[in-house]
Amino acid sequence: MTPDQIQLVQSSFAKVVPISDQAAEIFYARLFELAPDVRSLFKGDMVEQGRKLMTMLGSVTRGLGNLDTLAPVAQRLAERHVGYGARPAHYAVVGAALIDTLDKGLGAEFTPDVRSAWETAYGTLSGVMIAAPTRRPRPEAGDTAVKTFIRVIEYWVPSEDGSLLEFGGGLFGPAHRFAAVSQNLCFGRGEGLPGRAWETGRPIVLKELSGSYFRRAAAAKTAGLTCGIAVPIFKGERLSSVAVIFCGDDEEHAGAIELWGNDPEESSDMTLVDGYYGTTGDTFEFISRATAFRRGTGLPGMAWDAQKPVFLPDLGKGAGFIRADSAVKVGINRGFAIPCSTLDGSSFVMAFLSARATPIARRIEVWEPDASGTHLRRSIGFSDAAAKNEDAFEAIAMVGNAPDAAGAIARAFASGVPFTAEPMIAIPVAPQGRITAVMALHF
Ligand code: HEM
Repeated sequence: MTPDQIQLVQSSFAKVVPISDQAAEIFYARLFELAPDVRSLFKGDMVEQGRKLMTMLGSVTRGLGNLDTLAPVAQRLAERHVGYGARPAHYAVVGAALIDTLDKGLGAEFTPDVRSAWETAYGTLSGVMIAAPTRRPRPEAGDTAVKTFIRVIEYWVPSEDGSLLEFGGGLFGPAHRFAAVSQNLCFGRGEGLPGRAWETGRPIVLKELSGSYFRRAAAAKTAGLTCGIAVPIFKGERLSSVAVIFCGDDEEHAGAIELWGNDPEESSDMTLVDGYYGTTGDTFEFISRATAFRRGTGLPGMAWDAQKPVFLPDLGKGAGFIRADSAVKVGINRGFAIPCSTLDGSSFVMAFLSARATPIARRIEVWEPDASGTHLRRSIGFSDAAAKNEDAFEAIAMVGNAPDAAGAIARAFASGVPFTAEPMIAIPVAPQGRITAVMALHF
């Protein structure tokens, strides 16, 4: 925002202050007109609520010149809003109601310049608020920041009428701008990376975001993201979400992501469909392309057979990883493979291979339903750092709504939609349309 715009927002807000009760009334009337479904989220006294909103807008407008002080306030406000049930998609409609309110309240004084200044101000604030609950906390003193191979994970959910994919949320780490650009988008079938995964009904590896059909290439580049993998998640025949995983290609982020596939009409083996090998070099890619796996053998074949995630913490040891020699040579030591959803009987497995200095995530967990049918039990729990919380959740109830990790895992299992509980994201694993497990990745 320019200093002129900040000045316009502050001076126009000063004119709203004397009529703030009416302004709040107009605002909520307009909001509920635009989005009747959010009415039920407001449980308290609306006059009181309106005052809180105007007070908060007052502090926010005063703080516009200093984003460093504003950010923590917005962060805490955003965290409370997750608890109120506010979703990223709601911010646009709240913004529209605010602009309409100012238009009504200020009349002729709401000039195009004032409008544009407010739109920029609200865009900045809502961008920070949407990114805030999904932001990685600053490492505490003494905690050396681990650089993870996966840098960003986002997810997209079908709109109410099923015609579009809307932004659902995600973990963006320090990629705030990328988060802000993403939350305003939606994708039709076949559009952009999420839309293509929806249309083709299978995972897609887009190795080079720049110069492709990827719609957020500039923001991705700024955030250092070079590769995106979109994984559609089907519950039965119905698409419940598309998860998109982003990696960056630099010296500090060593690792590989592979997509293995089997078409039962063509072969009984799984072969490499596509792969992103970052800085690990061509030799390993070459060997991978030349390898085929039977069901049950090698990392991809094991995940294909088990129909749930498989984790190999040390690829150099044991017979599980057939390409061990060449992997160890390029520094890859861990492997994590996930069977993916498809609709046409073909099978796909996504394999993450990582080096010790660049773990896939800070911590990987897999949760599976136990025999009782009422609980999810942790079958895999691994972190390169000393495993904190190792026994924090031995078993969790399948039905849960709490805004914590256990609630997010339970909701992901029930709905087929990823959920975040900062700094963790729970992603359902649903080969052949049936949710068999939830992987929880901590960043
Ligand atoms: C920049 C945008 C927003 C601002 C400045 C804002 C401000 C506030 C403030 C100050 C409160 C009082 C409670 C508290 O401080 O935690 C509040 C409560 C609330 N807000 Fe927002 N809000 C914003 C966006 C949204 C959005 C997008 C929604 C989604 C529908 C929403 C829904 C709610 C609800 C449901 C409550 C709680 C009401 C209750 O307790 O009954 N807000 N908001």
